[in-house]
Order: sequence, then structure tokens, then C-alpha cells
Amino acid sequence: MNPVEQIAQYATGHWVSQMVFTFVKHNMGDAFQQQAATATQIAERTGVNEDNCFRLLRALAPLGILKQDDDQFSLTELGEFLTTEHPMSLTDKVLLEAGYEHVLLWTHLSDYMVNSTPAPKAIFELDNYFGLFEKRPKHLDVFAKAMGSYCQDEIAMIESMSSLDLSELDTLVDLGGAYGDLLVSLLQRYPNLEGILFDQAAVIDNALPLDRMTKQAGNFFKQVPENQDGYFLKHILHDWDDALCLKILGNIKRVMKPSSRVFIAEFGPVPETDEPHLSKMFDLHMMLTLNGKERTLTQWHELLSSAGFKIKMIHDSFGPLSVIEACSVDLV
Ligand SMILES: C[S@@+](CC[C@H](N)C(=O)[O-])C[C@H]1O[C@@H](n2cnc3c(N)ncnc32)[C@H](O)[C@@H]1O
Repeated sequence: MNPVEQIAQYATGHWVSQMVFTFVKHNMGDAFQQQAATATQIAERTGVNEDNCFRLLRALAPLGILKQDDDQFSLTELGEFLTTEHPMSLTDKVLLEAGYEHVLLWTHLSDYMVNSTPAPKAIFELDNYFGLFEKRPKHLDVFAKAMGSYCQDEIAMIESMSSLDLSELDTLVDLGGAYGDLLVSLLQRYPNLEGILFDQAAVIDNALPLDRMTKQAGNFFKQVPENQDGYFLKHILHDWDDALCLKILGNIKRVMKPSSRVFIAEFGPVPETDEPHLSKMFDLHMMLTLNGKERTLTQWHELLSSAGFKIKMIHDSFGPLSVIEACSVDLV
């Protein structure tokens, strides 16, 4: 691709994002019913305008999502991921990342560079991103489903970490555990483990009850469950700046056992070189939406030691997620 085409592609990235979003929002992937179909058939099955449908499908074909053969369209292998039936369906992620709230938040990036006001404040007058759940209740459902979907991939990454072993733990709390997908997988894997799912009330109300799992509503800036053998935080600390992370880590340190272990799962650590890594893009998303950040290994060492912890081990996976295992700085 020449420079003109390449920059044009970057500049119109939001066109592509909205094409994919629209395809998913109207359930067009499922409307194929696993066979070729005309735009007329897809329009009839999804209730969209026929001509508009043809033009959208025609534009999606060169992106590799559909194949066009005269008036017949069919899903490619890539397009199959945009159906709800696919075992690794990406529909929930598309609905969150290319949906109204996230797109609107990203329009604030250029102003953020100057004023550092988080986008939820500038656009929705909210103290933080999570206030969106009350202000726009439908967004909570979209967010939680997408988290569940991200979580399925990440559970596979966590299960792939041969060095990560929780079999010595009797109790574990998943702080900000959302609907409990990670905790459920850990309880299945470790039959002697008892777990607490800890999150905001509006979130855990939606989690399904399970043996050996207690739900506890709370605010981790105020207090966290005490005396747990393990404290799991997946995609929690990247939401917050260092001062707020120190509050959460301080609350853990205050009530944990001397031998407790803390497990921090995040994209990263962010490479300190120019190599590509998903964490570099997510870092911008966290900055913009919460004044949060993805961290380099140096930054993790600094943050954790300020809170009285030290890194015991870093568990790498086959994907962008890693788990930093930390313990009290006093533990030998
Ligand atoms: C980025 S999500 C991560 C969810 C889950 N750990 C995962 O990886 O899929 C952050 C979670 O933190 C929760 N949360 C935000 N602020 C909180 C607070 N002050 N106290 C407890 N939970 C909070 C949110 O409700 C949300 O479920």
C-alpha cells in the first residue's frame, strides 16, 4: 500500500468501524443462516432497507468479511466471527468498542491531549467511566457482555500459564470481578477453592449464583474482603492512576494475611521498545476514559513497591495478557 492509501485508511478507520458495527448491530451475520444469500434476503431477515443493505454488503466484501458472487453474498472465515453462533464470536466486543458511547469518548482524544479531562467527564459529565452504568443502563449490559467475551479469551490465556498455580489457596477474592466469568473458571479448576466475587452492586446482581462463590457488593476504594489467601485483579489497576491504585493496593495490604498473594492480570507489561503490543493501544483507551494506564515493568515495580509489595513472578501467556504475582515486601 502506498503512503496516500495507507494514511487514507488510517483517517477513515471510523468508517470501517461503523460498517462492522452496523453489520453486527443488525445481526446480519446470523441472517446468512450459514449459506449464501442476496442483499434482498438479508434485508428481509433483518428489517433494514434493501438498497442500503446491498451497498453495505458490497463495501464489506473487499474487507474480507464477505465474498460476493454476482448478487450472492456469503460469509468468509473471517466473517463467521461476526455471527453469534461462532464459538469465538466477536459480536459483543464489536458492539462495545464500536458502539455509541466508546466512539463518542474517542472523539475527545485530541482535547484530552491538552486538558487531560477524562472523556466521560467532558462528554457525559460523569466522575468516571463506571458512572455510565447508571446513566445509560443499556451500556452496562453491552459492557458486561463484552467483558465476558474478552474474558473467555483471557481465561484461555490464564489457563495456558504453566507457572501459575493456585492449588495452595483456600480463599480468593476477585476484585472488580464483574459477572464472575474468571472466578467461575478458577473455582472449576481448583475444587478446594472458595471465592468471593466483589464488585459494584449493580454489576454483581447480574452474576449467576454458584457453589463455593459468595457475592459481595462494595467499593474497593473503601475496603476489600479481609484475610483472603489470594486477591485477583484483572483489568482493574489499568483503570486508575497511580494515586488511586495505591488506595486499592493499600486497602488490600491493610487487611490481607502476611502470606497473601496478589495476582494482577493486564495487557502487558508494555514493552519499553517500539515493538507492537496491544497494550500500547489500550493504554490510550485507559488514559482517555479513566486517566488510567497500562504499565511497563519498571512502572509496575515502582507502583507495587510504593504500596509495600514486591513482584514474585510474572506469568506470560500465548497472548497479550500476563499475570503479575506479588506478595508483601516482608515475605521471604
Ligand atoms: C474493566 S472492568 C474488569 C472486569 C473484570 N475483572 C474483567 O477483567 O473482565 C472493571 C470492573 O471494576 C468494577 N469497579 C469499578 N469501580 C469499582 C469500585 N469502586 N469498587 C468495586 N468495583 C469497581 C466495575 O464494575 C467493573 O466490573
